[in-house]
Amino acid sequence: MKAVYITGGTTGIGLELAKLYLSQGWKVGVCGRDKSKFDENFFSHRDNITFYQVDVSKREEIQASIADFSKSIGLDLLIANAGIGYKFKSKVPDFEFSYKMVHINLLGVMYSFEAALAVMIPRGKGQLVAISSIAGYNGLPGVSAYSATKAAVQKYCESLHLDLRKFNINVTTICPGFVETPLTSTNRHSMPFIMKASKAAVLISKAIERKKMIYAFPFLFSSFVRLLSILPRTWYRFIISRKSLDYSKES
Ligand SMILES: NC(=O)c1ccc[n+]([C@@H]2O[C@H](COP(=O)([O-])OP(=O)(O)OC[C@H]3O[C@@H](n4cnc5c(N)ncnc54)[C@H](OP(=O)(O)O)[C@@H]3O)[C@@H](O)[C@H]2O)c1
Repeated sequence: MKAVYITGGTTGIGLELAKLYLSQGWKVGVCGRDKSKFDENFFSHRDNITFYQVDVSKREEIQASIADFSKSIGLDLLIANAGIGYKFKSKVPDFEFSYKMVHINLLGVMYSFEAALAVMIPRGKGQLVAISSIAGYNGLPGVSAYSATKAAVQKYCESLHLDLRKFNINVTTICPGFVETPLTSTNRHSMPFIMKASKAAVLISKAIERKKMIYAFPFLFSSFVRLLSILPRTWYRFIISRKSLDYSKES
């Protein structure tokens, strides 16, 4: 039986991924800071799921939990999904919250990968996945640190994808568009092509199965965002400053 550890698997995209892998017969490990979210969502699947009360921004905590899971259950796949976003967008950055975001969204991924690789490299196989965002393709207004952390995760994984092939370890970056989860529930701006978390989980799992280097979805919206990323920046500034696209105007 295969084993997957999903950071932040207690709500939203991580929860739907956990449910999907459980339904396919995998053993699943999830972590989160708040155990009550796990208790609410996993009452009927206790047999094949293990919860770790862990903060991914604390290196020793996340590493101890991944080490424990891989030793007692196994570790074929690690999905670094835990992340936070801004509740309210602002033109003046909230620096305290931005630092917290770097610790969770970027260092949390590195700490998780470090722990997984300690097991996967000696074993000569494994899969690492990070949930970035299409917000990582461009510096978006109002969410500077979020865009920065997601861009950093994309490039970090791109390098690792190349480096780790010789160890038979595949690295996939996932870049979702808008997904209906607690993270997006406070957004007051329009969210084009928003999709259910259960549908996002199916698309993500297929990309993981195909060992894609990077997978951005939904297709139309992510294509538009990727086109923006290759335009001259003066054109980008003109387009993104239109009222409907400037999310920092919501607060
Ligand atoms: N929803 C979207 O539209 C969207 C789009 C693109 C990318 N993403 C990315 O997808 C990932 C999942 O987002 P989501 O929308 O599913 O969010 P969510 O519903 O808010 O879920 C976040 C999960 O991460 C956990 N978490 C947060 N901080 C943590 C920490 N420091 N340590 C351990 N666990 C932590 C949360 O549990 P606790 O709070 O209990 O810790 C929860 O299980 C994030 O990386 C997000 O940036 C989301």
